[in-house]
Amino acid sequence: MRLSVIGCGYLGAVHAACMAELGHEVVGIDVDAGKVDALNRAAAPFFEPGLDETLRKAIDSGRLRFSTDFADAATAQVHFVAVGTPQKPGENAADLTYVHAAIDALAPHVAPGSLVVGKSTVPVGTASVLVQRLQAVQPEATLAWNPEFLREGVAVTDTIAPDRIVYGLPSGADGEHAKALLDEVYAVALGKGTPLVVTDYATAELVKVAANAFLATKISFINAMSEVADTVGADVTQLADAIGYDARIGRKFLNAGVGFGGGCLPKDIRAFRARAEELGVGDSLTFLKEVDAINVRQRERVVIRLREALGGELAGRRVAVLGLAFKPDSDDVRDSPALDVAVRLKGLGADVVTTDPRAIENARARHPQLTYEPSVEAALRNAAAVVVVTEWAEYRDLDPEWAGELVAGKVIIDGRNALNPLTWRAAGWTYRGSGRP
Ligand code: UDX
Repeated sequence: MRLSVIGCGYLGAVHAACMAELGHEVVGIDVDAGKVDALNRAAAPFFEPGLDETLRKAIDSGRLRFSTDFADAATAQVHFVAVGTPQKPGENAADLTYVHAAIDALAPHVAPGSLVVGKSTVPVGTASVLVQRLQAVQPEATLAWNPEFLREGVAVTDTIAPDRIVYGLPSGADGEHAKALLDEVYAVALGKGTPLVVTDYATAELVKVAANAFLATKISFINAMSEVADTVGADVTQLADAIGYDARIGRKFLNAGVGFGGGCLPKDIRAFRARAEELGVGDSLTFLKEVDAINVRQRERVVIRLREALGGELAGRRVAVLGLAFKPDSDDVRDSPALDVAVRLKGLGADVVTTDPRAIENARARHPQLTYEPSVEAALRNAAAVVVVTEWAEYRDLDPEWAGELVAGKVIIDGRNALNPLTWRAAGWTYRGSGRP
């Protein structure tokens, strides 16, 4: 099929590349000329494992290109809108400026009978407004809502082989037409038996924010347990294993630590609350305020643990912070707990030296006041303490003996419960995890 993807960030660039990989003819449109140039050279402007290779293959096949000109989308049968919906500055609500701008710029180029598909995460009720905006310009276009559940770090796999597909469709003939087109787009995944939920706009919009709210709640739940575990000397990792064996609960997303971040979970739970308040059902989501508060509190807990381990004083102490990205296999520092911990420590007067395998440049652009070292070795040298805040494999696998030779003080704060306390203690380190005795 001929597809266009409007907005080529973490979501759109991956979607465009993967749709081409699946055999469709795709044009990705973005207003940022630098991003478009990079993507046309198969060099994604962000780190996502496997993406550059997928881009290269698709571009070489002739099925994928990127452009800044919306007119290049005109021949597409299906247009995906994948622009960002960031948090409004100083508010909890989502900023829909980019979604509106995308629809307005695209609408004049949408051919009669074509389908526009929203993939961006939006407040419930957005699609029913956008369809009017679209049809005011192109009355013969249809709108569908098709939320995206990809995780950074495994985005290519998640897009090619999603665990479910959701269509939010209008009723009647328009809905049937949209379903037929989407079935063709996703023929490969559907052919493999991927579960499909066909529903209305509002449900499709809600599915996405509900999924992220649930995941955020799960993480904050285990972090709340880790706070209790800390006070009674219990072990939250064993607790997670034990409750995780219950299939109704499940072990995934029960890793206590410095909490969730990234471009989705934090802003999505805030936008969901803001939308519920607008709708007069704010009470239903009050718990998400607590989920958010528990999450942010974990950053301070790492700082407190470090201060205690260093005998109460942080000012002037050299601290190696391992990790800046919000999670491993990503260079994304949006709302990153790791970066926030580094900034807090710096604010308290610590001599902070940070490192990360991929996220240094993104972190530096936001916080030039921090010291960045490309190698773990340089970051560890002469540190009075080490803080692990992103569980990259190379930090998980650190050799405590080797690290012990480099540092000035053998104190390690494991902000992700990613290390083995026994081996670190055996090598003479003071080890402190989260909710671990
Ligand atoms: C998330 C959703 O998983 C995805 O479905 C949606 O499309 C976008 O938002 P992503 O932001 O890529 O994806 O990250 P995810 O893997 O969900 O992790 C989110 C955060 O939670 C990370 O900071 C991670 O470190 C943290 N986390 C995850 C924990 O603190 N503990 C856990 O047990 C799991």
